[in-house]
Amino acid sequence: MTSTGSVVESVEAGNATVSLGNVRRTYYLGEPVHALDGVSLDLPDGSFTAVMGPSGSGKSTLMNMVGCLDTPDEGTVHVEGRNVTALSGSERAQLRGTELGFIFQQFNLMPRLTAAENVTLPLVFNDAVDVDRRERAETLLSRVGLGDRLDHAPPELSGGQRQRVAIARALVNEPSLVLADEPTGNLDTGTGAEIMDIFAELHAAGRTILMVTHERHIAEHAERIVHLVDGQIQEIEQLDSGAHTGGSQ
Ligand SMILES: Nc1ncnc2c1ncn2[C@@H]1O[C@H](COP(=O)(O)OP(=O)(O)OP(=O)(O)O)[C@@H](O)[C@H]1O
Ligand SMILES: [Mg+2]
Repeated sequence: MTSTGSVVESVEAGNATVSLGNVRRTYYLGEPVHALDGVSLDLPDGSFTAVMGPSGSGKSTLMNMVGCLDTPDEGTVHVEGRNVTALSGSERAQLRGTELGFIFQQFNLMPRLTAAENVTLPLVFNDAVDVDRRERAETLLSRVGLGDRLDHAPPELSGGQRQRVAIARALVNEPSLVLADEPTGNLDTGTGAEIMDIFAELHAAGRTILMVTHERHIAEHAERIVHLVDGQIQEIEQLDSGAHTGGSQ
């Protein structure tokens, strides 16, 4: 597969990438906290979903569930057709490493490694040789507009540039599902808009995206907004802007 210009290669269409069935997750620290209280949600293949809700409403817990970083106390989680609760810890890690790309608010880059080295970190479990890794880093960083910053370390980059390195890193394994928890939370409005342009390209290329945000105008880049309140879905709001693709459920 070759590609010119766009952020990622297109992916094949398929089934629902993620399916949550009546998921409950309770934390016991003194009073029980129902972080997720019976959440059912499908993420159709290629859909772009935003999650909004007050602080403590369960957004990150939901993200961790979908990202196979956590398992429910009750209910079911299927990712790419696999029943996550039935997998061992190492099988879940394998699923994360091959199918999922994570983007966080704080970028989570290694400060002493270069941009290119950060991008290829997820390939440690992959048998690509060094020269291939460098090439992949170069290709991805060029696509997010950082072709001239390959050998800069994160402290030598701006916030928006760091987030772009994090996006390139999230894409290095060509994941079918991209998870982003407040990807523009630490960025100014203009830089946040640039990051959303990259998300629009990912969506156009067929990636399934789940994105948590506090900002309405950022959420409006998605096809629909899931509103969480006290660990429950209060409303799934369909947005007109995304009506051209099959993201409804
Ligand atoms: N590891 C944990 N131990 C105990 N309680 C937790 C833990 N993680 C989350 N919680 C609780 O679960 C609830 C949901 O937390 P979560 O992090 O999912 O919220 P959030 O919607 O992401 O909030 P924010 O917008 O502030 O990031 C909160 O009340 C939180 O205190
Ligand atoms: Mg959170």
